[in-house]
Amino acid sequence: MFTRVKTPNEIENMRESGRILASILKKVKEITRPGMTGLEISDFVDEELKKRSATGPFKGYMGYPHAICISVNDEVVHGIPNGRQFNEGDVVGFDFGVKYKGMITDSAFSMVVGKSAKTKKQFLKATEQSLYAGIEKVKDGVRVGDISAAIQRVLDQHNLGIVRELVGHGVGHEVHEDPNIPNYGMVGKGPLLKAGMTIAIEPMSTLGGYRVKMDSDGWTIRTIDGSLSAHFEHTVLITRNGYEILTAWEN
Ligand code: MF3
Ligand code: CO
Repeated sequence: MFTRVKTPNEIENMRESGRILASILKKVKEITRPGMTGLEISDFVDEELKKRSATGPFKGYMGYPHAICISVNDEVVHGIPNGRQFNEGDVVGFDFGVKYKGMITDSAFSMVVGKSAKTKKQFLKATEQSLYAGIEKVKDGVRVGDISAAIQRVLDQHNLGIVRELVGHGVGHEVHEDPNIPNYGMVGKGPLLKAGMTIAIEPMSTLGGYRVKMDSDGWTIRTIDGSLSAHFEHTVLITRNGYEILTAWEN
């Protein structure tokens, strides 16, 4: 289903959903340190969701077992929280969804656990910049290719691998709505987007090649060459003149 133009009431509920999501992700960043495990983070977000009378739409999505995806180092996305401790210097991606009053938002960020080498910091910064380059193209009448090309440009500039098999998407009533929003593409191409639609933009990059494979767990996606991977994502409302980032941390 192509993502619908949301009603004012649905938009207000998505704003609240996004605020809840951001407030929880921010806390996840604060508590993540060496020695912590993904399962502890998963328990933490379950508690936080409960406190806010919200639910985690990833749990049960095609059988996925948790409310959050945690992907470490060469894992790109959809890592399943486990009991392994994070090590200093690990690059960890947290991908999280919230459902509140029927409306879903989706957001992700990557961070380095503990002290970080400069190369890792720059890698994450460039990937996050590519997300904002894509977001800045968003307005009524934008084409998906305009967003894709803007993301690709930044990732190419930094010589990063661009994961092709996973893409951004419409969001709101479902976790994944059409259209797909690839992280590479051409200006002027692709579906037309309208004010009131809501999309998740989510560049996934690597410090090496772009090729990925799935683990035998049926979920975890990792780089084939073992290179580090990063992922940043926001849910964005398209407006007449621009956009509103519904999952922004400062809202
Ligand atoms: N945010 C993820 C994405 O857009 C959704 C994960 S669904 C899950 O791909 F089931 F893997 F959690
Ligand atoms: Co997503």
